Amino acid sequence: MSANLNPEVYWITGASSGIGKALALELAKPGNAIILSGRNVQALEEVKQIVLLKGAGCESLPFNVADIEKFPEIVKQAIGVFGHIDVLVNNAGVSQRSPAMQTSSEVEKELMHINYFSPVALSKELIPHLRERGIGHIVVVSSIAGKFGFSLRSTYAAAKHALHGYFEALRLELREIPVYVTIVCPGRVKTNVSFNALQGDGRPHAVMDDGQRKGISAGTCAKRMAKAIKNKNNEVLIGGAELIPVYLRRYCPPLFYYLIKKVKPT
Ligand SMILES: NC(=O)c1ccc[n+]([C@@H]2O[C@H](COP(=O)([O-])OP(=O)(O)OC[C@H]3O[C@@H](n4cnc5c(N)ncnc54)[C@H](OP(=O)(O)O)[C@@H]3O)[C@@H](O)[C@H]2O)c1
Repeated sequence: MSANLNPEVYWITGASSGIGKALALELAKPGNAIILSGRNVQALEEVKQIVLLKGAGCESLPFNVADIEKFPEIVKQAIGVFGHIDVLVNNAGVSQRSPAMQTSSEVEKELMHINYFSPVALSKELIPHLRERGIGHIVVVSSIAGKFGFSLRSTYAAAKHALHGYFEALRLELREIPVYVTIVCPGRVKTNVSFNALQGDGRPHAVMDDGQRKGISAGTCAKRMAKAIKNKNNEVLIGGAELIPVYLRRYCPPLFYYLIKKVKPT
């Protein structure tokens, strides 16, 4: 635990890999304390050792974000680690690589559960603590798939779109406390996300897609995320040229609908 008696405490889900791990390393500095969550205990321990070396407080709190019924106890444990939580980063997520018509309803439910119901439930469980403290910050990792639907990602896109509706409403409802809400929309980031993405029958895609391979690094994504969190931005888009369709859809919908058909689905 950090020697600092009143650190800024960040709780990051999905901190064992990719964007969550990179964010933990980015935030790892004296004065900060980080609670790392994920299922992979060994990977969390490795991240923890690096965070501690960089001078931040750190503890790991492994759990499966699918186990929503355990959240009351998990949130209690998380608050107990450093005495309070300042920022919850709902980052854990699983993508999809399957045509809608070949995706089983079990897989659809799993994608909605992990990407939508779980961050909603975890946030709701923490909010009484933030209300009691009179301040807090909830970060949600959406995606450009939360801004427009794309082939092979029907349910993933649905879950990420749903996050926007829910957390925009929550932001308004909690503005008096205040609890800030930042929605992060990465484009393509070079992580294991495509490798871990689910196929229609629930098996992992197990391929590093071209899009991911050519994406920005998780470190670059984490730097921009940390800045958006610090600035309490409502929403931030992070990526490269793959973000263009988001702006096209906003400012020139006919061109967006014409061009998006030509993008090869990977
Ligand atoms: N990479 C991209 O291009 C991209 C683009 C847009 C949005 N995103 C979003 O960014 C977030 C992070 O993804 P990533 O790219 O860093 O992928 P990643 O490397 O596959 O990391 C996913 C993280 O989520 C955790 N996770 C997954 N299922 C979990 C479960 N059931 N319980 C607990 N933790 C679970 C994993 O931890 P364990 O394996 O230890 O459980 C891992 O730490 C996701 O929400 C994803 O949708 C990524």
